[in-house]
Amino acid sequence: MGDRWYSEAVVYCLDVDTYADSDGDGVGDFRGLIGRLDYLARLGVTCLWLNPIHPSPNQDDGYDATDFYNVDPRLGTLGDFAELLHQAQNRGIRVIIDLVVNHTSDQHPWFQSARSSPDSPYRDWYVWADHAPADRHQGMVFPGEQHETWTYDRTAKAWYYHRFYEFQPDLNIENPKVRAEIKKITSFWLQLGVSGFRMDAVPFIIEQTEPGNPNAPKDFDFLTDLRQHVQWRRGDAVLLAEANVEPDQLPVYFGDGSGSGNRIHMLFDFMLNGRLMLALAREDPETIVDALRDTPKLPTGGQWATFLRNHDEIDLSRLTADQRNDVLAKFGPDESMQLYGRGIRRRLAPMLGNDRRHIELAYALQFSLRGTPVLRYGEEIGMGENLALDGRNAIRTPMQWSYKENAGFSTADPEKLIRPVIDQGDFGYQKVNVTAQRGDSKSLLAWFERMIRTLREAPEIGSGSTSHIDVPMPAGVLAHRADGPTGTMVFLHNLGTEDVEVDLSTLAAEADLPIDVLTDRGYGDVGKLDRLKLGGHGYRWIRLCRSTASY
Ligand code: NOJ
Repeated sequence: MGDRWYSEAVVYCLDVDTYADSDGDGVGDFRGLIGRLDYLARLGVTCLWLNPIHPSPNQDDGYDATDFYNVDPRLGTLGDFAELLHQAQNRGIRVIIDLVVNHTSDQHPWFQSARSSPDSPYRDWYVWADHAPADRHQGMVFPGEQHETWTYDRTAKAWYYHRFYEFQPDLNIENPKVRAEIKKITSFWLQLGVSGFRMDAVPFIIEQTEPGNPNAPKDFDFLTDLRQHVQWRRGDAVLLAEANVEPDQLPVYFGDGSGSGNRIHMLFDFMLNGRLMLALAREDPETIVDALRDTPKLPTGGQWATFLRNHDEIDLSRLTADQRNDVLAKFGPDESMQLYGRGIRRRLAPMLGNDRRHIELAYALQFSLRGTPVLRYGEEIGMGENLALDGRNAIRTPMQWSYKENAGFSTADPEKLIRPVIDQGDFGYQKVNVTAQRGDSKSLLAWFERMIRTLREAPEIGSGSTSHIDVPMPAGVLAHRADGPTGTMVFLHNLGTEDVEVDLSTLAAEADLPIDVLTDRGYGDVGKLDRLKLGGHGYRWIRLCRSTASY
C-alpha cells in the first residue's frame, strides 16, 4: 500500500443518528456504532465519514451546528466519541468527520451575540448589509425551499447572508478571527484522533461575499493555509471536499498551480456522478469515456472520491436538459422522486428496479474507476427510500439490521424513532436486512464483501492511472484499464442488456497469465483475450499482469 492511505481507502458514509441505537431512545448513537464496527471491518471499510456530529437544532440534519467543540448529546458524550475512535483504530478503521464551517446555525451563540448589537465581538464573524442587496434572490442552493440568500434580521436591524437556508448564516471568511477559529476547530478534532475532514460547501466557504455581487471572488489562499495547518497538526490527515463546480474550475481546489497539491487532497467527483447516472440510464458508456478523457490532471497526491449515492439528492444540474430528462425518465419518473428541479431523492437499488445484476454492475463500475470509492450506509444491502418523508429525508431512514421490530435499529417505541424504518414492500426491513444477508453467500452484502476484498488486491485502481481502452467495442460496453507499479487491471462493464463478445487481443502482448478476479458469473478462461464473453449487465475485472514492485 502506498503512503497516502486515502488513495486506497474504502470510505463508508453514515449518519450516527440513523445507524444503530444502543440505549433505546430512538436515535442512533456512538455506542451503537461501536457495536457495529465488526460488521464494517468485515465489509472491508477502511474509513468512516460521519455526517455532522455536533450539537444542532437539526433543521438541516446537523449541517447547522451550535457548537463545533462538542458532540450532539443525542449521540452520546465526547468520551463515547473518543472510545469510538479508539475502537475503530483497533480494527484499522479511520474516522473523518464533516467540517461544516461555511455557516453556523442561527442558534449558535456567535450568531446570537452578533445579531444582538453592532458592537458585539462576533458581529464581524458574519456577513451583513445595511440595505437590501440587489442580488438577494439569486444563488439559492435549495430552490423551492429557500427564497433568498440575504434575510433581514429585526434584532440586528441589518441583512445577513446565507448561501443555504435562512437559519444557516454564513461565517465571514475575510475575518482573520474566523479563519483562526476554523483552524482551531480542526486542531481540536485532530488532537482527539480523527483522520481528517469532509469539508462541506468549500466554494462557498472561500467566497468573499459583497452585497450586490452575485459572482463574488474566492480566496483560494485560505485552502492553502488550512492545508498547511492541518498537515502540521497531523501529517496523515486528509481533506475531502465537496466542491460541486464545473470541471475546469476544479484544479485550483487541489493546488495553486505550482505543480504541488498544496490545498485539498480529495474532491468528490460530482461530474462523474452525473455522467455515471446518464450512462446507466442510456445503457451507453460514452459519457464515462468522456469523463475519463476530460478529467483534469491532478497534482501529485490529488485524488478523486467517487460515489453513486450520498446523503443528498443526485444532482443532475451539470447535464444538458436532454441528458437530465433521460435520467429522470428512467430513474425518477414520478415528480415525488425529484427534488429542487435538478435531482433525484432515491437510493440506487430502487432506481435500478431492484435488479441485482444491474446493481452489481453499477457498483463494480464505480469501484473500478479511478479514485477512492465512497459508499453510503445501507447501499451494501440494497436499501430503498421512503418518499413519504420530506425532501432528502427520503434516503435517510434507519439502517436495516434484522427482522426484529424497528429493523433491529432501536428498541424504542416505533413512534419515537428519529425517522420511521422502511417496513413495507420489497425494501421493507422484513426483506432487506443485514441478518438475512450476512449468512447468505449469494447476497448483495456478500457480494460487496467479495468485491471490496478484490479491490484490496488491485492498488492500481486507487493509486495508479486509469484510462479508456480505445478499441472497437460492442454497444453498451466500457473497457478501461488501471496501471501502476504493481501491474495492470483491465475492466469490462456491459451497461446494456444483450450478451456480447469482446476482443481485447491487442492487450495480449502485455498479459502475463491473465485471469478473471471478479465477474458477475462464470465465464471460463480468458484465453487469448480475443473472445471474452460478457452477459447483459455483466462485468469482468481481469488482472492482466502483476509485478512485485510496490508503490
Ligand atoms: C452540503 C451538504 O451535503 C448538505 O446536506 C447540506 O444541506 C448543505 N451542504 C448545507 O450545509
